[in-house]
Amino acid sequence: MKTAITELFGIQHPIIQGGMHYVGFAELAAAVSSAGGLGIITGLTQKTPELLAKEIARCREMTDKPFGVNLTFLPSFTAPPYPEYIAAIREGGVRIVETAGRSPEQYMPALKAAGIKVIHKCTSVRHSLKAEKIGCDAVSVDGFECGGHPGEDDIPNMILLPRAADELTIPFVASGGMADARSLVAALAMGAAGMNMGTRFIATKEAPVHPNVKKALVEATELDTRLVMRALRNTERVLKNKGVDQLLEIEREKGASLKIQDIHEQVAGVYPKVMIEGEMDVGAWSCGMVVGLIHDVPTVKGLIDRIMVEAEQIIRQRLTGFLDGTVQNAPARAVA
Ligand SMILES: Cc1cc2nc3c(=O)[nH]c(=O)nc-3n(C[C@H](O)[C@H](O)[C@H](O)COP(=O)(O)O)c2cc1C
Repeated sequence: MKTAITELFGIQHPIIQGGMHYVGFAELAAAVSSAGGLGIITGLTQKTPELLAKEIARCREMTDKPFGVNLTFLPSFTAPPYPEYIAAIREGGVRIVETAGRSPEQYMPALKAAGIKVIHKCTSVRHSLKAEKIGCDAVSVDGFECGGHPGEDDIPNMILLPRAADELTIPFVASGGMADARSLVAALAMGAAGMNMGTRFIATKEAPVHPNVKKALVEATELDTRLVMRALRNTERVLKNKGVDQLLEIEREKGASLKIQDIHEQVAGVYPKVMIEGEMDVGAWSCGMVVGLIHDVPTVKGLIDRIMVEAEQIIRQRLTGFLDGTVQNAPARAVA
């Protein structure tokens, strides 16, 4: 399949693995890129630019296909040394960066001077247009259903994607709630040129996380995510667990006066405990509603191949079948 996204990034399939804290290591990024998608290393999971340089080198040993690095611009008291992270990306020969969080505007000159293509992930049409204006090459449009930070507008992808298609001139991928061939075909129908998946890629053989995490994803349903930190305007969609229940209780007690310090125990330092140690009840870690569509732990290549084969079937058989009258009302079920 060829789309503006496969052409922009020089990849075979229009499928991107979004940056994920303590998940997006070289193993996963290389597996996704080798399978024909675009794998992404999570820059800030590497505590220093030097460590990121090593992770990039490790990934390069595992795949000869293009891969990217995620740079998340977070509100924080002491900002990470972004220029040094960008230098590590440039010197590591990486030519694709996924930015997220705040606008990457201030870093665009450095990224562009290094010949890097930038795909900015954002949760609204206005932020997508801003990304286009400041020279981003593409946008990852992240709907309300997404794992991680869905923003504060609460617009799901059924609305957000066609709105983005109506306004943008640069290509965009659909992000949030994407799991299978049905997601990809729907995203393409709504104007996207591909899809970005987070949560789905955690439940793969190559994702370098504790088996408890994959088990939790397979067992959870679409009813099991919660929104936390709304009062702080830093909303995050996470998988429900005991730590998250405590966090929500504190949020209920404090109401609008909630401070980040009040929930420090349930949000700080949680990722290594969950992803490395497999402690599933310690607190808030991102997970999308799409968890309700995850029923297995395939290899990355198995997952991507399945998506592409079934997408072709949906387009050639189901959709054209409606046009020529050979298909009427059979639901397009997941094959897995
Ligand atoms: C465990 C986890 C950690 C994530 N960490 C980051 C991150 O550090 N930076 C970022 O830009 N996005 C992060 N995301 C968001 C993903 O890149 C992606 O946009 C999102 O998962 C898409 O929604 P989906 O989970 O429904 O596929 C994270 C998502 C998950 C599930």
